[in-house]
This record gives sequence, structure tokens and C-alpha cells, in this order.
Amino acid sequence: MTSSPIIAPSILASDFSRLAEEVHAIEGAADWVHVDVMDNHFVPNLTLGLPIVQSLRKATTIPFDVHLMITDPERWAPGYAEAGAYNVTFHAEACDNPVALAKTLRAAGAKAGLAIDRDTPVEPYLELLPYLDTVLIMTIKAGFGGQKFMPEMLDKVRDVRRRISVGHLDIRLEVDGGIAADTIAQAAEAGADAFVAGTAVYGAADPAEAVRKLRALAAERMGNSM
Ligand code: DX5
Ligand code: ZN
Repeated sequence: MTSSPIIAPSILASDFSRLAEEVHAIEGAADWVHVDVMDNHFVPNLTLGLPIVQSLRKATTIPFDVHLMITDPERWAPGYAEAGAYNVTFHAEACDNPVALAKTLRAAGAKAGLAIDRDTPVEPYLELLPYLDTVLIMTIKAGFGGQKFMPEMLDKVRDVRRRISVGHLDIRLEVDGGIAADTIAQAAEAGADAFVAGTAVYGAADPAEAVRKLRALAAERMGNSM
């Protein structure tokens, strides 16, 4: 693998009363900002939605990596693409026709991502990879930040990485949940090349410095000399 790691801090762990400032704090250090949209139906938690994404989009140039933990993504996901999200990821468990939604998202100008939650096997989705730009493997159960990283999820990362390599596909393989200085290397070694980190970035005294450290740890394990 030759690509550089993508580091995507999750604003779920930031101070919601100062969202724009919190995003500015990682500008120049992070590649994407990860936006966790939760609807209190798909997951038992409620975070933020389209109006906040639209407002925040105007406050920064950093690409948005929107992670929709919602039911009925067919109805809501295109709005995030139209709001200027770089990548829109919806959950396999919430979607009957992932290929159709991926096509809709691409037509709306966004990258299309498929997320696989903790209890969902990845095998049934491997054949869909050519229609996707990102695959997000949850390394926790979706719904809350600050949970403990589950190394047993990395078998799914290995399976997806193998299929990406065999098919020579242009896909970012993202991990989300419990990614920190002591876990990012194993995720990178398993084949991930995009890393969401909430607590590890926004819980740090210097979020930008935390991003740089995570990048160095990931790059080292991905065989890069960064
Ligand atoms: C949880 C979210 C994650 C969360 C990760 O369902 O999808 O993006 O913010 O938080 P940490 O990095 O603290 O595990
Ligand atoms: Zn997320």
C-alpha cells in the first residue's frame, strides 16, 4: 500500500458550543473532519443534523467525512452531499439497496461510503466494493464515543483490504472507534488507511499535535516514511 494515511478527527468529542473553533483547531493537521450524525433510532443517541452541517460547512475548508448513523439514509443522505460533504457514509444495516444509494451520492457530487457495524459480517458486502469510495469498519458498537477499541474487528479490515488489493480498487478503508496512539498501528497493519479519532484528538491538550502523532504512528505501520 502506498497511500498516505487519512486522519479524521471526530467532532463528537469536541465542545459543541464552539464547533467552528474546534474544527479550526485541527485545520492544517487533519485531512478530513468526521461528523457523526445520530438520530436516536438507528443508534440510541442523538447528535447533530443537516442544519448544523450546512452552517459548519461555511466555517471551514476542511473536507467533511459525514458518518450517518440513521435509519432511512435514502431519504437524508443526499442532502449532506448537496451541503458539500466530501464523503457521505451510510450504514449497511440501515439500507436495502446500498449500490443505488452510492450511485445517488456520487451523482450529487460526494464520495460514497458504506459502514459496517460491530455485529455485521462484511462478506455479503465485499462484492459491492466497486460501487464505493470508502468503507468504514466500526471497531466499536456505533452510537457513542469513548469506547474501547475491539481488535477482533480487524479481521473485517483484513478481508476488505484483500479484496481492494485483488480488485485494484480505489477505496479508502476507514476504521472508527477507540482509535488512539496505542491502537492505530494495529489498524494500519491490518490494512486501514483512514482513521477516525474522537477522544484521542479532542481529549488531548493540543488536538493538532495529537493528529500529527496519530499520523506518524499510522504512516510508520503503512510503510511510509512520513
Ligand atoms: C461512534 C462514532 C465515532 C466516535 C469515535 O459511533 O461513530 O466516530 O466519535 O469516538 P472515539 O474515537 O472516542 O472512539
Ligand atoms: Zn463515526
